[in-house]
Amino acid sequence: MTERAVARIDVGAVQRNCTRLPKPLCAVVKADAYGHGVGLVVDAALAGGATWLAVATAAEAAELRRLAADVPILVMGAVTRDELRVAVEAGADVVAWSPEVAEAAPRVHVKLDTGMGRLGTRDRELAARLAAGPNTVGLMTHFATADELEDDLFPAQLAEFRGFVEQVGRGDLLVHAANSAAALREPASHFDMVRCGVAIYGLDPFQAEPDAHGLEPALSLHSWVASVRRIEAGQSVGYGRRWRAQEATWVATVPVGYGDGWRRALTNDCDVLIGGRRYPLVGTVSMDNVTVALGAEPAVDVGDEVVLIGAQGGERILAEEVARRMGTINYEVTTGLLPRLRREPVR
Ligand SMILES: Cc1ncc(COP(=O)(O)O)c(C=O)c1O
Repeated sequence: MTERAVARIDVGAVQRNCTRLPKPLCAVVKADAYGHGVGLVVDAALAGGATWLAVATAAEAAELRRLAADVPILVMGAVTRDELRVAVEAGADVVAWSPEVAEAAPRVHVKLDTGMGRLGTRDRELAARLAAGPNTVGLMTHFATADELEDDLFPAQLAEFRGFVEQVGRGDLLVHAANSAAALREPASHFDMVRCGVAIYGLDPFQAEPDAHGLEPALSLHSWVASVRRIEAGQSVGYGRRWRAQEATWVATVPVGYGDGWRRALTNDCDVLIGGRRYPLVGTVSMDNVTVALGAEPAVDVGDEVVLIGAQGGERILAEEVARRMGTINYEVTTGLLPRLRREPVR
């Protein structure tokens, strides 16, 4: 290790994931590419066949335009008047569900709210009127439960959107609806383009197993054993004494913590890999360090590499596992990694 902790981004995996996803593909690279580093993944996504890029904010579009001069960019989030100007200056398309935005921006995608209840309009008449506007180049919606196979909102949203598209007529409009989960499970949701975020990073939108969809996790998180010490029976490690040794044991200190985005919710509740074996994190996750129980006769030395997400030897820890432990989803695990962790591209 050259530094205390680093997130390695396998840009080849991003490219291969994009290759395997349906086309036309819009690669969603908001929130610094779900924490992967937008500057690292854009070229890989385009090399994998993405022909559109999407972000949430105007500032993200301005940054992205510097990375991808000629690629169509869609700003999917709500924008203020000032942000609209920034998005337009970046040459990005924006999403509209009001006459004000539909008239103010040169290229808009009209969003029908078919059940997400967040952005877009529920008013089909208004949406149809906006769809006929001179600046409208696309029609879209967004699914709330595409990742929940038993939920009946997904087919209802799809049916409503399809009805809307038939009502207004496709003409030259670009029609799009599918996020990663919909793209993977339902070809009828693909229309003219899929908007995939999580899947391009090799994360499973269904929170189980990326392999099942032919996806390769692109992000791995590495640190090192900075110290190994013997803890006697009854002694504790870490803030608040939230772990005590039942018997004499060795403990490694690994310099990564919630200041890097390795969340305090993982206190006493995750594993790490050292030498291809799983070891439990013990004690409180602090800002800059975690501690790991090595057992009575440790086969671990200062300087050994530690993998917190990723593979080592025959073992693997997925972001999906970390998410389950934290009571969240893989999206938040990678997006929550903080800027202090350098992102290092690997192939
Ligand atoms: C409107 C919209 N489309 C597509 C996506 C991509 O979703 P996913 O990362 O699940 O593929 C998002 C992300 O949240 C979104 O907000």
